Amino acid sequence: IRIFVPKDAAARSVGADDVAARIMAEAEARSIEVSVVRTGTRGALFLEPLVEVETSAGRIGYGPVDPDDVTGLFDAGFPSADGHPLHLGPVDAIPYLARQTRVTFARCGVIDPASVADYRAQGGFRGLEAALAKPAADIVEDVVASGLRGRGGAGFPTGIKWRTVAAAEADEKYICCNADEGDSGTFADRILMEGDPFLLIEGMTIAGLAVGACTGYVYIRSEYPDAIAAMKTAIAACEADGTLGDDILGSGRSFRLHVRVGAGAYICGEESAMLDSLEGKRGIVRAKPPIPAIAGLFGKPTVVNNVLSFAAVPSILADGPEAYAAHGMGKSRGTMPFQIAGNIARGGLVELGFGVTLRELIEDFGGGTHSGRPVRAVQVGGPLGAYVPADRLDLPMDYEAFAEAGFMVGHGGIVVFDDTVDMARQARFAFAFCAIESCGKCTPCRVGAVRGRETMDRILAGEDVATNVALVEDLCTLMTDASLCAMGGLTPMPVKSALTYFPEDFDRAHAREAAE
Ligand code: NAI
Ligand code: SF4
Repeated sequence: IRIFVPKDAAARSVGADDVAARIMAEAEARSIEVSVVRTGTRGALFLEPLVEVETSAGRIGYGPVDPDDVTGLFDAGFPSADGHPLHLGPVDAIPYLARQTRVTFARCGVIDPASVADYRAQGGFRGLEAALAKPAADIVEDVVASGLRGRGGAGFPTGIKWRTVAAAEADEKYICCNADEGDSGTFADRILMEGDPFLLIEGMTIAGLAVGACTGYVYIRSEYPDAIAAMKTAIAACEADGTLGDDILGSGRSFRLHVRVGAGAYICGEESAMLDSLEGKRGIVRAKPPIPAIAGLFGKPTVVNNVLSFAAVPSILADGPEAYAAHGMGKSRGTMPFQIAGNIARGGLVELGFGVTLRELIEDFGGGTHSGRPVRAVQVGGPLGAYVPADRLDLPMDYEAFAEAGFMVGHGGIVVFDDTVDMARQARFAFAFCAIESCGKCTPCRVGAVRGRETMDRILAGEDVATNVALVEDLCTLMTDASLCAMGGLTPMPVKSALTYFPEDFDRAHAREAAE
């Protein structure tokens, strides 16, 4: 009997390794023949460790399984313990998973992330095969037609970026994957690399074929050791199997992929700082133009995309751009893996077409706050994203709708706060974060963040609040208009949203009274 236990970092952090070991030990002691397969996570993190048993009727789930639950599960008849309280029934029918539109994450939690054979058996490499049968320009046009936009946060059309690189004349071009997932509350890149690394490899290889690049780099943050290991294992497996190398799937075409470990700085997720870091330098933001598509890694035309952008590409080639574009709303086409975190009862990854509302994500999927108190604010799009107030939760997740409201979708991270949050402290945090993570190249960000933090300290102390709030507002305008990159340019977004929607928290006498 095959038993599946995730080896995803989130599952491991709550005891998945122990659970796997205890299952093997109990099975051996009871002479029950089982083989334990370590998978990625399905993304329902509140159910981790989620143990699955293969049956003729599909996989049956048990969760969340604590290592100390394992003996009791076997006493109740595990691997077939229908009567046990942790028995969840068919995994595919668990509402949190059944109600999603899994395109990019369809295989995550299902396959063994170290097995090329498993990936292929689940429809893997169909996109690559389709790409190998097409002229390069047609691959690019398929990606354009799909409407796929950069999933790293900025939402720039991926196909248009590829067109620019394809049209650039150069003896060498590169494909770089930005896996420096630094936004608070985001974990989709990590889950994908740990659970379905072959999908990223396939997407990057297709990008190489499309623009005429033979070398790719995956830049993974150092805080993700499991993802780094999973990617290295998968790349080696693809090289051994002929899916990567000098004769991709027997086509005579070449693509090689390397993993590089990030330098531990948030700013190395900014694409030009990442390129500097890849070149072996300290990661400092480059002035644009030129954009990386024209002069990127080592000065050569370079595709820089996020993990999720590359990972969306195989299905576009395999099933056609229309199938991908059928999901979503307005100019936001396809699916987005939203990540629900913070004060939430059921945290995890939810892949759905754009257009789902924040309320559906937080209430229907997330089950409301973990504390049981009312939601007061939701930060969407990482530490540089706006705080959305509770009365705007019916806003659809759509790049344009969010931008119009002064918010941003970003990389799809959703961090929930209940009514005990102090929004003036959150505004201070935005400046403090920027002061720590600024690369220091431009004055509005380097100096502005420190001055912002100091001014917020005076507001928090109740000193001349009206004057200091006016100073913060002025500083926000300057940082937005004059910073060289999004780090300094977007730091005002959370600050201004806190000021706009939660002005009472800046009136410290009032805030103190409310807290009492
Ligand atoms: P941007 O709007 O300057 O550029 C977006 C992308 O489009 C870049 O790759 C750029 O090189 C490319 N591009 C622009 N014009 C082009 C053209 N004519 N042809 C080809 N390519 C072109 O945005 P930026 O500064 O790269 O990213 C900012 C975003 O990053 C923010 O909105 C934020 O959501 C996100 N972000 C994501 C984080 C994460 O952990 N995923 C962390 C921090 C910020
Ligand atoms: Fe560096 Fe900040 Fe200027 Fe960006 S805005 S270039 S992070 S100093």
